[in-house]
Amino acid sequence: MAQPKTRRADVLVVFGVAGDLARKMTFRALYRLEARKLLDCQVIGVAKRQWSDSQLRHVVKQSLAASNEPVDAAIFDRLAERLRSFDGDLSDPATFGALAEKLKGKSRPVFYLELPPPMFAPVVAGLGKVGLTDRATVMVEKPFGEDLPSARALNRELHKVLREEQILRIDHFLGKQPVLDISYLRFANAIFEPLWNRDHIAAVQLTMAEDFGVDERGAFYDPVGALRDVVQNHLMQVLALIAMEAPVGPGPEALWDKKVDVFQAIADVDPAAAVRGQYAGYRQVRGVRKRSTTETYVALRLGVDNWRWAGVPFFVRAGKALASRATEVRVLFKRPPRLSFLGDARGGTFDQLVIRIDPEPGMRWVLLSKAADGNSLREVHMDLPFVAELGTPPEPYERLLHDALVGEHSLFSRQDAVEETWRILQPLVDNPPAPVSYRRGSWGPSQAADLLRGYAPWSEPWLPSSQSVGM
Ligand code: BG6
Repeated sequence: MAQPKTRRADVLVVFGVAGDLARKMTFRALYRLEARKLLDCQVIGVAKRQWSDSQLRHVVKQSLAASNEPVDAAIFDRLAERLRSFDGDLSDPATFGALAEKLKGKSRPVFYLELPPPMFAPVVAGLGKVGLTDRATVMVEKPFGEDLPSARALNRELHKVLREEQILRIDHFLGKQPVLDISYLRFANAIFEPLWNRDHIAAVQLTMAEDFGVDERGAFYDPVGALRDVVQNHLMQVLALIAMEAPVGPGPEALWDKKVDVFQAIADVDPAAAVRGQYAGYRQVRGVRKRSTTETYVALRLGVDNWRWAGVPFFVRAGKALASRATEVRVLFKRPPRLSFLGDARGGTFDQLVIRIDPEPGMRWVLLSKAADGNSLREVHMDLPFVAELGTPPEPYERLLHDALVGEHSLFSRQDAVEETWRILQPLVDNPPAPVSYRRGSWGPSQAADLLRGYAPWSEPWLPSSQSVGM
């Protein structure tokens, strides 16, 4: 939504500009915003590197080339004009005084903290002490806490200096077009709502499968694991969009109220209804402890205890080094009555609605119809490729950075939502079952199938035609 000019940032300060995320995502997002003429402020990159402005520009240029972004020289020059380097040792209080000097005359800064999480609170405190936070917005990267107590503690620290509306907690899944599409599909059409409840839906499956391992991220990943890395944030957010009621008005609060209603209706996870896995070879990854019990796969069952969803299981699974890469939501509808005129319907599947988030976002209906020869029922698919129908969307970070700069906050998580998702998963954080080893390139531990006993088994994800798979 367009915001009044008065809410627009007049400077973006990126902390951690020498880090991996900046090189892979931030510079590219900034370049793309520049290309779309959506960037209109100075960008200050903070790192303890003693980079000159031109060195920072060089790093940005190299990073764009490494990320295969086609670079137009004139657009890059415009971006380079905005870039300033600031050499900062964040453990030195003098750094913040010097930054305040540099920002003299700026009244609406956005501070983007692409830093290790233990730095979030000290940096915000440092900014506060030199009076930089009064009219600022602060974006913090994930993970927001490592469990419920630490998320609460971090919130408390940030709130000593900032009001809730000044804190933007990033979850890049919320910037993905197909994730945004979920609420549009559900609420801009009349056909879904009558079916979207326990009377018609048998189960919901959420899958985030990655066909690559932890690779160079061992040191980051090993203390984290799949539950914290992608379930507490990305998949819980997707679940909320699938399960929530329609927001009662525009703006972030109305949306977050409905998401929080969903989270509040989810009971604490039962560790007995969860399976953790670790791919064979994970412990040999650099940065991973030799006897690590960190999960690279997790599957669990959740339920939303409200009038719409009571009794409908939400099965969630996420893993690395699996057979394919696919993130999807699969809504399985109840079977129709068996009518004799249809003949033998055995082997027929459930009707399903699939929303594929990655790769190649799209929507698929899985239906049964009559085969051309004979009277047998055949599974048929109606596919809607989003990009072909709706156009190429901005990338998640491009969208989120822009939203932060123009003061649009709907796509950033709210404190109560973050705390609720940790609350739901905390029993599994406290009492994790031992991980089961699984083969790289498989679909994870076979025990994950037991979670679905009595329901349709895990479905093979809907893959783009370029990928083939065997379950
Ligand atoms: C990140 C996780 O948040 O999301 C990664 O830290 C994961 O482990 C990534 O691979 C997946 O995001 P995307 O957008 O590439 O699907």
